[in-house]
Amino acid sequence: MDKKPIRLITPHMHGEEIKFVNEAFESNWIAPLGPQVDAFEQEVAAYVGVKAAAALSSGTAAIHLALKITGAGRGDVVFCSTLTFAGSCNPIVYEGAEPIFIDSEPDSWNMSPDALERAFSDCSRVKRLPRAVIVVDIYGQSANFGPILDICSTYGVPVIEDAVEALGAKYQGRHCGTLGDLGIYSFNGNKIITTSGGGMVVSDDEAAIRKIKFWSTQAKDPARHYEHSELGYNYRISNVLAAIGRGQLRVLDKRLEQKKRIYESYKAGFAGIDEIGLMPVAAYGEPNHWLSVITLAEGSRVSPLDVMLALENENIESRPVWKPMQLQPFYKNCRFYPHRDGRKSVSEDIFDRGVCLPSDTKLTDEDLERS
Ligand SMILES: Cc1ncc(COP(=O)(O)O)c(C=O)c1O
Repeated sequence: MDKKPIRLITPHMHGEEIKFVNEAFESNWIAPLGPQVDAFEQEVAAYVGVKAAAALSSGTAAIHLALKITGAGRGDVVFCSTLTFAGSCNPIVYEGAEPIFIDSEPDSWNMSPDALERAFSDCSRVKRLPRAVIVVDIYGQSANFGPILDICSTYGVPVIEDAVEALGAKYQGRHCGTLGDLGIYSFNGNKIITTSGGGMVVSDDEAAIRKIKFWSTQAKDPARHYEHSELGYNYRISNVLAAIGRGQLRVLDKRLEQKKRIYESYKAGFAGIDEIGLMPVAAYGEPNHWLSVITLAEGSRVSPLDVMLALENENIESRPVWKPMQLQPFYKNCRFYPHRDGRKSVSEDIFDRGVCLPSDTKLTDEDLERS
């Protein structure tokens, strides 16, 4: 008999979602607007402590419209963390701008302040500063925002925080997503809370959020007929999906505890095994442990593929670490700033040695023991 499958991450409903979904049905608000959307925005904004939020159809759409707020377009460059999923940087290309990728630092796996400083200094020398910097909080851990924000504010460049994987995580007590000028969350099926698909921009800049809502509903000017003086998008979230999100938000704190338990269980399981290290936890914050990730020691005889195949044999799902953008065929001609000049990049080293382990909040103790 096949062993019970253990998945990397799956959606985790808890029952209360249906109450809000029923409200949406009973009120006949089955549209990409409505009371559930408004309430979901207010509740997420209150949870993370910002003034305003715009709920959209995906995290990628949210990054796209946040980027438009910065005015990035043809002829501009935009800096972006390289160790990420393509959804972080594809919107730069949608807008016709040029991405420049910034390596990870070893301590957090997030944007290296050293590489960022060198990228700024080169761009400043040729008088072509980036329009924006997209800083990713990878695998649910905050980037090193102290030095990153210092550098960006010295050059007067806005920061978009891609906290898509990091809802509930913190940097020095502040919620991830609230550290830059605009913050982004995703509610895709694999995220810590989900609406099946969805995203959000949060900010204290209420005018920016109003503009994002305007663009996301096809940029309809106030008129009796359909009048458009700007290019719009059909990016708003459905009222039904926002209802799921409201139910999910009520168990976010519980999910944070469960993710931590999973991480702690791996930590205890691998203690004393020199060959295996866990993703480092930077002292400045509290990750949400969205995914627990290991690295194999340099020179190890076992490769990440060996680990993934062995787990697959046990019907346990695992994944490689994100392949950095400077190694992606689509982005291979883009400029890239490594953490240290002349050395293998940190992001490539993490990709070469990392494996993402099952981090599903429905994992039982027995499942954890197996994985
Ligand atoms: C870091 C990061 N940014 C952006 C995205 C895109 O979010 P979405 O899938 O909601 O479009 C993802 C997707 O999972 C992601 O992991």
